[in-house]
Amino acid sequence: MHVSIASLAAATLALSGSALAADAPASKRPNVVIIMSDDQDRLLGSLDYMPVLQREMMGNGVEFENHYGTISNCCPSRASFLRGQAAHSTNITHVRPPGGNYDKWRIAGENENYLPHWIKKAGYKAEYVGKFLNGYSQVNYHIPPKGWDHIDALIEPYINDYNNVVMSQNGERPVQYRGFHSNDVVRIKAIDRLERLLDAEDPFFLAVMPYAPHVAGNKPPTPQARHADKFPDAKAPRFANWNPSDEIQKQKSVFLKDMKLMDSEAEASADRLFLGRIRAIQGVDEIIEDVLAKLEEKGQLDNTYDTNLPLVIRGPGIPGGVKSKVASAHLDFAPTFLDIMGLDKAEWPEFLDGRSLLEEWKDPVPEVKPEIGSAKEIINIEFWGDKVVEIPEYAGMKLDNNSYKTLRIVSEESSWMFLNWCTNEMELYNITADPWEINNLARGEVTAEHKRLINRLNSILMVTKSCTKDSCRDPWSALQPPEAQSRIGSLTAAMAPEHDAFYEQFPKVHFGQCMQYQDEANEQPFWPPGAENDLGKAHRNPTDNWVASDKGKPGVEPNAEPAGGRSSGARRWSSSWRMSTS
Ligand SMILES: *[C@@H]1O[C@H](CO)[C@@H](O)[C@H](O)[C@H]1NC(C)=O
Ligand SMILES: *[C@@H]1O[C@H](CO)[C@@H](O)[C@H](O)[C@H]1NC(C)=O
Ligand SMILES: *[C@@H]1O[C@H](CO)[C@@H](O)[C@H](O)[C@H]1NC(C)=O
Repeated sequence: MHVSIASLAAATLALSGSALAADAPASKRPNVVIIMSDDQDRLLGSLDYMPVLQREMMGNGVEFENHYGTISNCCPSRASFLRGQAAHSTNITHVRPPGGNYDKWRIAGENENYLPHWIKKAGYKAEYVGKFLNGYSQVNYHIPPKGWDHIDALIEPYINDYNNVVMSQNGERPVQYRGFHSNDVVRIKAIDRLERLLDAEDPFFLAVMPYAPHVAGNKPPTPQARHADKFPDAKAPRFANWNPSDEIQKQKSVFLKDMKLMDSEAEASADRLFLGRIRAIQGVDEIIEDVLAKLEEKGQLDNTYDTNLPLVIRGPGIPGGVKSKVASAHLDFAPTFLDIMGLDKAEWPEFLDGRSLLEEWKDPVPEVKPEIGSAKEIINIEFWGDKVVEIPEYAGMKLDNNSYKTLRIVSEESSWMFLNWCTNEMELYNITADPWEINNLARGEVTAEHKRLINRLNSILMVTKSCTKDSCRDPWSALQPPEAQSRIGSLTAAMAPEHDAFYEQFPKVHFGQCMQYQDEANEQPFWPPGAENDLGKAHRNPTDNWVASDKGKPGVEPNAEPAGGRSSGARRWSSSWRMSTS
């Protein structure tokens, strides 16, 4: 069972407008349209199955190969995107209690102070179509996400069922769209909103959030009927980390080290999952196509930026057909948008952990490369609570010991992945030599050189695991050896032998035990000392013993047959067609 599917949400962003200048008249400022798919991979090659994305976005834009979601779980990742903060700062750390969900987000007060509120300060309209946070449901739909001028959200428990689309518009009574597929409803609604926004005066931000290619419960996602027979021969790619031997697998940690080899049935199931995913993302490719077509029809396409996690950006001042190694994360989007919209820095929320990427988007292949492991190349990745493995033998099983702290150094010449599990097992991979993370250098006989490296990486992780604001943007500020003659600002500089003693005696990242949520006492020690008093707590309410709304039972039946067939007539949007209640 040695399959690992990178769980990264994808984002496609379209910014349109004639100028980026902050002092341009309000009506001339660039619009922003972000299209974010759910759980899409980059490494498994899903982008190869998206011809529109390839042609229109990559061909005319920049593909960022090192964009990361800093928490690989729906609700925390979206919360991080919406607040511009690491998950340890939002404390929205899982899709259900006690880690998080939409109710916790509201109780914490985060609903009052996040992206759409700031976008509106910049004089923009802010709209949202599709999946919001887990736990926005048929029970609490009437308390809608705040800040949006218009929000039309997929609601639970139906969200998992592509064939039973139920949405609530601005907190109104949910509507079921009988006869339609989730991808089509989101696409049609998005194009409808886009047209209205393009016809109005104000600049705007539009988030388009389809659910594809997320798994449907324990099953592969259901594609639209018109895509159900595509790619009959496609199989999950057999990379070096596909179903590796026990010898390799036992270098992993927690439950992973005990996973058995996949038998042919499990392999076939992984192939079915892969196929379902690439078929389901055809509907996302259509969303991109229709959004671009609408922008073109309104004469805005030449001034459009587009992005994708896998991240692709297209826009004014951005070169075409380029691949970039510049590192970035979801929490950088919010500051980047505010930068694009020209919101005065004095008006930015003070708690942002991310940084604006606008300079990098415009200059994605800089001539002067940063020193290895400088601040911008440090990516903190974290997780709390259980994990579900999407293969039959593990169906319905929650694998509890899956909390971890991870550090990635993402440099062109030297890249590293360092991982500390809640069992305090460690993993270290030299990504330059071993991109599929086969050879764990922290296990068994660890070389003296790798020990020196682990000491440095541990010290960076000590800072990033609880960083906020500037300490996230520049972890090195908290890692200066007293004997250093000049400022240490990169892994290369820190590796100098004269700093061995300093980094060796540094406190070690540690968990007391595997817990399902962020507990300060369990994650001692912290660096700098007292960092546990920050964790973004000044900018949210305490949530101890919070209670989630109950979901209740589904009340409406789905389509009898998969929707989105050729006969549904919904492939192309037409202005005479408006979504109606059925
Ligand atoms: C990491 O891998 C690269 C590429 O094989 C190699 O040149 C380098 O020496 C390795 N670094 C360490 C510290 O093992
Ligand atoms: C999970 O981790 C705890 C330590 O926190 C350990 O005692 C327990 O044995 C682990 N469970 C499994 C199934 O590995
Ligand atoms: C995070 O949330 C959990 C559950 O509500 C709570 O017990 C914990 O104290 C919170 N941690 C922080 C650092 O706010």
